[in-house]
Amino acid sequence: MRGWMGKFRSLFLFGALTLLLSGCGVDNLSALKPKGYGSELLFDLMLISIAIMLFVFVIVMAIYTFVLIRYRQKKGQEDFIPKQTEGVKALEIIWTVIPIILLLVLAVPTVQATFDLADESTKDDEGVTTIEVTGNQFWWHFGYPNDEISTSQDLYIPVGEKVYLDMKSSDVIHSFWVPSIAGKMDTNPGDNNNTMSLEAYEEGVYWGQCTELCGESHSLMDFRVIAVSPEDYEQWKEDMQNVDPEAEAQTADAQEGQDLFENSCMGCHAIGDGAAGQGPNLTNFANRTKIAGILEPSKENLVNWIVNPEEIKPGNQMPANLVSEEEASKIADYLLELDHSDIGPESVDEQPQEED
Ligand code: CUA
Repeated sequence: MRGWMGKFRSLFLFGALTLLLSGCGVDNLSALKPKGYGSELLFDLMLISIAIMLFVFVIVMAIYTFVLIRYRQKKGQEDFIPKQTEGVKALEIIWTVIPIILLLVLAVPTVQATFDLADESTKDDEGVTTIEVTGNQFWWHFGYPNDEISTSQDLYIPVGEKVYLDMKSSDVIHSFWVPSIAGKMDTNPGDNNNTMSLEAYEEGVYWGQCTELCGESHSLMDFRVIAVSPEDYEQWKEDMQNVDPEAEAQTADAQEGQDLFENSCMGCHAIGDGAAGQGPNLTNFANRTKIAGILEPSKENLVNWIVNPEEIKPGNQMPANLVSEEEASKIADYLLELDHSDIGPESVDEQPQEED
């Protein structure tokens, strides 16, 4: 009885955990709800593999159950040894050929998808967007070299267009993963650049994560891909190109913050177009989906982050206690004024939300 209860308890726990963990998903962070070209290809491959596995599983289990019942030891058969059969040619051919056919069914679309995803034939065409992606401990730089735009953490792309990403790392290996619209790709240090493409079918804010263990704050290396309408994308580019890094802050506190920022922070950070520095480019900062990739955008969180980054993202490069809390508050006032474009996460079309 106890054993039975124990088994029941494990089963119950397992079931409850499955239900609980299935609720862990964040919107638009699921390879099982594909909303882009790459993720759709990969999802189809998953379906094919699952179908083949189910097919094999059902047949093997059916034979297994049949043999178990049909040939079980009956009363009075204790010393009975069944007839031994070896080397049945027909059987051996069948169980060699069937797996070969199944593997071919799986291999052909897989190889096709692999070449399809690696296809760069339109990369140099006119009007095609190529974005430079640089992984850093623990944030992402996004550069649009043809448009002279630099930004970080929120990657803007036009919906329904195939854009290319030229990817590298400034330190260790990271991996760029946006499961709802594409697969994943490593970013390597040195000259070993990788290329991947992104194409979102729907406007939306898609969550991305680093999926290569890259240090203490690897799990906090989040980013977003924001797919906006082509018109909004053009507007966003224009706004970003017109950023004046020297524009005067609006309030007295923010003005002081601007001076502090220029003296204490500009060594690593930049506003406006600039090469990837040691720290993220902060253009359009007030419009970001998150602070430091993980915190809800609020002044309180920003001040906390500036004063004590180590507590929030261990192992990051930003020096702690560089400024006092009062100074951080003024810097925050300045940064939260950096609303360079009306195009932001709120510009994506309202999509009919699925019930989760
Ligand atoms: Cu970068 Cu993990």
